[in-house]
Amino acid sequence: MGAPVSPEGAIRAVFLGPPGAGKGTQAKLLAERLGIVHVSTGDMLREHRAEGTKLGLEAAGHMKRGELVPDDLVVKMVEERISRPDAAESWILDGFPRTVPQARALDSMLEKAGKTLTHVVYFGVPRGELIRRLTRRRTCGSCGAIWHLDFHPSREPDRCDRCGGPLEQRDDDRLEVVERRLQEYARLTEPVLDYYRAKGTLVEIDGARSPEDVFASLSEALERTPS
Ligand code: AP5
Repeated sequence: MGAPVSPEGAIRAVFLGPPGAGKGTQAKLLAERLGIVHVSTGDMLREHRAEGTKLGLEAAGHMKRGELVPDDLVVKMVEERISRPDAAESWILDGFPRTVPQARALDSMLEKAGKTLTHVVYFGVPRGELIRRLTRRRTCGSCGAIWHLDFHPSREPDRCDRCGGPLEQRDDDRLEVVERRLQEYARLTEPVLDYYRAKGTLVEIDGARSPEDVFASLSEALERTPS
């Protein structure tokens, strides 16, 4: 992806947007480009599920039904992750905060640490496009790379081009669960956009373009937004 990214100083960014908006795709690109930590609450919860931890077991039912996992569980998980040494200065939060109480909890964590968010980015994509993206998504079970059967295909439909791992369909990418996730997004996460709009920190990007064009807009936003 050709666009340069050269923000100076720390990046503590929140990526917001509906399921399938491309948050994970853009966060992975940016984290690789800048060498900073990508904190995806969805990926972390799926790892807990795969490992059968107490948190994973508690989260599993909610995730399968397309509902959000309770705030207190997710907040604790994020607080622990961003307090590790590799996240001391910079990180991208992908999929968190997803409710207004989570946004308030993040503010408190940052305040305690004497830090602030540097960027809040929202990726907007129309509903029909979200459904096309989610129902045809494939994810690598080994390295986590994100593919799409039509828009970003791996050479073999069931094998990852990047690491050779098996490509899988997420159990929450079935149409009926996708519908539920979109309802949950409208009910609980759209108010988070208003929360950041009221603070004047929200940057809105048209996510319904090619990944390259979206990344170019993201790069510009990172360079422009004051920290
Ligand atoms: P999570 O894994 O965070 O899912 P999500 O927010 O629903 O987002 P997605 O991962 O589905 O989409 P994305 O925006 O990352 O898009 P992607 O880049 O993959 O959460 C899963 C569940 O965990 C939740 O339902 C909830 O239960 C729980 N959870 C997580 N966080 C929580 C929290 N904070 N609180 C409570 N519960 C929480 O792209 C999608 C597809 O489109 C891919 O195939 C990709 O290749 C393709 N694509 C990407 N960009 C483009 C483009 N520009 N053009 C064409 N195709 C594209």
